[in-house]
Amino acid sequence: MDSRTIRDRFVAFFERRDHRLVASSSLVPNDPTLLLTNAGMNQFKPYFLGEQSAPFARATSVQKCFRTTDIDEVGRTARHLTFFEMLGNFSFGDYYKEKACPWAWELVTEVWGFDPELLWVTVYETDDEAAEVWADGVGVRPERILRRGKKDNFWSMGVAGPCGPCSEIFVDLGDAYGDASERGPDGNEDRYLEIWNLVFMQDECDAAIEPIAPLPRRNIDTGAGLERVALALQGAASVYETDTLGAMVAAAEDLTGVRYGSGGRSDMGLRVLADHGRALTFLIADGVLPSNEERGYVLRRVMRRAVRHARLLGRDDPVLPALVEATVSLMGDAYPELRARRAFVVEVAAREEERFSATLRQGLALLERELEGARSSGGATLGGDVAFRLHDTFGFPVDLTTEIAGEAGVTVETDAFERLMSAQRERARAARASGSDARADALERLAAAPAVDALGATEFVGYEHLGAEGSVVAMLGDGPGDVASEGAELWIVLDRTPFYAEGGGQVADRGTIAAPSGRADVLDVRRVAHGVSAHRVAVRAGEIALGDAVRATVDGRWRRGAERAHTATHILHWALRDRLGEHARQAGSLVEPGRLRFDFSHYEPLGDERAAEIGDAIQSLVLHDDGVRAYETSYDFARSIGAMAIFGEKYGDFVRVVEVGDYSKELCGGTHVAHTSAIGVVVLTAEGSVGANVRRVEALVGDDGLAYLRRRIGVLERSAEVLKVPPDDVAERVERLVAQHKDMERRLAEVERRAADDEARALAESAVDVDGTRLVVARRDVGVDALRSLAQTLKGRLGSAVVVLGSAGSGRANLVGAVTKDVAARGVSARDVLAPGASVLGGGAGGKPELAVSGGPQADRLDEAMEVAARTARELLER
Ligand code: SER
Repeated sequence: MDSRTIRDRFVAFFERRDHRLVASSSLVPNDPTLLLTNAGMNQFKPYFLGEQSAPFARATSVQKCFRTTDIDEVGRTARHLTFFEMLGNFSFGDYYKEKACPWAWELVTEVWGFDPELLWVTVYETDDEAAEVWADGVGVRPERILRRGKKDNFWSMGVAGPCGPCSEIFVDLGDAYGDASERGPDGNEDRYLEIWNLVFMQDECDAAIEPIAPLPRRNIDTGAGLERVALALQGAASVYETDTLGAMVAAAEDLTGVRYGSGGRSDMGLRVLADHGRALTFLIADGVLPSNEERGYVLRRVMRRAVRHARLLGRDDPVLPALVEATVSLMGDAYPELRARRAFVVEVAAREEERFSATLRQGLALLERELEGARSSGGATLGGDVAFRLHDTFGFPVDLTTEIAGEAGVTVETDAFERLMSAQRERARAARASGSDARADALERLAAAPAVDALGATEFVGYEHLGAEGSVVAMLGDGPGDVASEGAELWIVLDRTPFYAEGGGQVADRGTIAAPSGRADVLDVRRVAHGVSAHRVAVRAGEIALGDAVRATVDGRWRRGAERAHTATHILHWALRDRLGEHARQAGSLVEPGRLRFDFSHYEPLGDERAAEIGDAIQSLVLHDDGVRAYETSYDFARSIGAMAIFGEKYGDFVRVVEVGDYSKELCGGTHVAHTSAIGVVVLTAEGSVGANVRRVEALVGDDGLAYLRRRIGVLERSAEVLKVPPDDVAERVERLVAQHKDMERRLAEVERRAADDEARALAESAVDVDGTRLVVARRDVGVDALRSLAQTLKGRLGSAVVVLGSAGSGRANLVGAVTKDVAARGVSARDVLAPGASVLGGGAGGKPELAVSGGPQADRLDEAMEVAARTARELLER
């Protein structure tokens, strides 16, 4: 039975039993706690937790999964894979064990056709209910039902979330896979292969995977590894000999010219290419780009490991693009996104391979030397500094270094490596922070101050109001004291404030705080601790004291500018993803009044055309005047409606969602315009690179966008005036002028060349003969370069010759002397010819035997100097 049939029959079986077929979710989960999608149930997590009601009670899916554990085991064993497909059926508070188990059994035996005599099941040690269902409801013989502990039969996502006891189905693959055991899988897990895991989702666990509460309802989550089922059904020796992965191995064979099945090291390499080739194709198609961070780093490790194995197999030309093509043609029917993004994936793969190939050889040479050194000095460890250098300079992911070292029996000091990595990160952080150091210090002191520690969270009313009454609950200045007077700068905390504290890329509000007997300007606002925000203020008049009742007023113009830029940033983010693809994710942003900067992942420059297209798309969304809505909701609800979250960012249970129209949804605490038309104008002003696969665009918004356009128009109008054409004709006119200018330059050069020729000819004719050598002495008051080139031209026209040219300008005279090779060979050097004349000018002569230049301040004695030079030349020639 081929993989397609296995897949199709699974889905059809559950569809017939009222399960909704749900498409695989992306490998990039919409869940910041999870690096990559690793199970079919991921996308249903809010339903299990009861945070959202499921739109259907039963579902089935074929889910793309990626597991990052043991990347370096892949290829060594018959079963490890990074990417795999998980078949699953799910019940959201609907049926439970009583149906899940019999259906699984029916599918395995009747649809897939496994002999019931070959099957074993396991249950969680205390799960009598499951044991009973298997024995009585299904009819499995008691000796085929094993009980196992938490390690094997209790499933969780590995992070806080839904979990529960589980039950697994094993199939006896037969004698070819090892010895039979009376205890089945308890005796030999090579021969008895787990093909399906049925999880009875009934608990919620904490991060330590300890159940903390029962889930609102009891659910079913099952997962069968497609590749394993194929192995068992196809009688394959390993997953790499099943139809799909076997075809990938064949593609790797074609690429490398190495045959699979030798049983040696080369088999491992081919398996690595097969698995990693598929994995990288799916990851890139889902928008992951190679980088040194998070999921980008997982991808990079897989790509670089594949490249290294290809080189080990003797293939020096690129392999990744061909592996992508093989994956697309094998799996493009089941996953149409592969076909849709084929060109993009090939491009990304080719670039990464090219980048790594440039350093791989050098890095390997370094590593070989170091390993040799380690071995010959009797050591079995490789320094963390070497691993760090390989990472930093040659782009070797540390697990690649570890793997290569391991092959030579050497272990890497990974602790030392990690220390160097964190030192580097620290340096980078410090470099970023320097400059704002003093302020950071003050903030830290503020956060640690006992007064602040004891405060409750600041009430933020700035989403609704630009002004509010509050009281001063803490003050931290450079000196002690509860009163600050005119001229002082310090941090103060209010119990309530309309001031937005810097966050989410948006700058803090500016404005004023008025106290009963004083007034201060607000220069900055920061979040310091547990919801407390502090205002950096400069007291402008009178005094402000602890306990004062104050009126805080945000500068409305400033705030509106920031809001325009912030909403524009969301629209830009959406437009980039819409035009470039899912991979174009936010990597950083800065939002200021009237101005924004946005970093996002993408692998090439936008180019003028693309940039213009995106700019137009943004502007037309702005003018469409959609509403902007912000609301607080549960984190899980936000995620379930597809709101964009930033991976690694910590979100609480309650989050704020900002929606623009019906297209953009982001988790965001910032402030926004109410309608997009309030943004007015968005002008993209710059686009560039800020690192591997990270691009940056800058834009001006609202008044600043308008001012920018006005400036540009001003330049155009001025140019039109100068050119005396209407503005619309400027470009055409300038093009024509540039063309004319080029043509004139060409013609001028031609005229000059001819004039120089004529001159050289005339001078050549004036040459006198001195003992068979031609001597030319002439004055031309031109620059020294022209003089030198005239001397060279002349020399070229005369067979055997000495040329002396002179020129005088304001306060300085020059002599150039040139002699032909044969003359120089006779011992008459240009320098000697010039030297006496040069001293008449009050200077010296320098240069080479065949060409010398001299000069001096006595410009009025040039004629005399030339006569001396002429005489010297004769004397030297006649000698
Ligand atoms: N979530 C379980 C697993 O991944 C069953 O689908 O094994």
